[in-house]
Amino acid sequence: MKLPGPRGAVSGALIDVLAAEATTLPAGRAPDDDEDLQLALFVCYELAYRGWDGVDDAWEWNPALLGLRAELEGHFEAGLRELTGPPVAVDPADVPHLLAEVVAADDGPSLSGYLRGRASYAQFREFVIHRSVYHLREADPHSWAIPRLAGRPKAALIEIQADEYGGGVTSRMHQELFKQTMRWFGLDLTYGTYVDSVGAPTLAVNNLMSFFGLHRRRRGAILGHLAAYEMTSSLPNRAYGNGLRRLGGDAGATAFYDEHVEADAVHEQIAAHDLCGSFAAAEPELAGQVLWGARCALAVDACWGREVLAAWQDGRSALRD
Ligand SMILES: [Fe+2]
Ligand SMILES: [Fe+2]
Repeated sequence: MKLPGPRGAVSGALIDVLAAEATTLPAGRAPDDDEDLQLALFVCYELAYRGWDGVDDAWEWNPALLGLRAELEGHFEAGLRELTGPPVAVDPADVPHLLAEVVAADDGPSLSGYLRGRASYAQFREFVIHRSVYHLREADPHSWAIPRLAGRPKAALIEIQADEYGGGVTSRMHQELFKQTMRWFGLDLTYGTYVDSVGAPTLAVNNLMSFFGLHRRRRGAILGHLAAYEMTSSLPNRAYGNGLRRLGGDAGATAFYDEHVEADAVHEQIAAHDLCGSFAAAEPELAGQVLWGARCALAVDACWGREVLAAWQDGRSALRD
């Protein structure tokens, strides 16, 4: 993936260093704004996924870069706590039903309702561009949790992830299914192509998963994040599929969404009970973190959804330039 363009002093200096056009990382400097923060964090995190074209893989574990990343994470976490409050200790036995309460209390905007009934072809295409940043690596951030678990929660996570990865069949991988949707819209299927096109809220959605997934100490939060996603997926995906059919989308175009209607009705139960419930029983001190992860997932997604809908309601594009 090509290094993106800068969005401020910190992301600019970081990108210059990775591109070997400068030597000093922007440590100790506050990001200019959320665009600068989220892009800089995204650039740091991508080194742990598929990396950047022309950038030495060794940067992933460079101590100075990790120091900068920790500073950026401090800013990100402060924002998350403003949005959702801190993790609160709960009885581990209550985790599955508290997750259901968190999901039921979600007051995010109904992007799915808009896409089902009203979105234009151009707006749906923009939605797909935004979502491509995640869906082309769907499931990867949650896979970081696998080696950090044992026994029943590990088996439950594997059961979900195996479906996400198509049971080992390339064409069934959700990452691959999404390419069919992108192809129908005539989009570039290359991983990461649209990072430059999306704003901070989209990058934050992705950064949240890496912020949880890359740190073993946040293993509870990444599981709660996954549960929130699985528990809020089935109905919106039905709406996305129907919206795309309304616009003339064929079976290939809607396959990604149709697949999630059935799969996530099952994943929802596995995630709440077998995964998060048994994890909380095994590591009761992290039970509250599971719920915090779920709250953060929904809150950060809601910020993104509000931004996209607001742009469309103003008659603007939801993409950068
Ligand atoms: Fe999926
Ligand atoms: Fe799923």
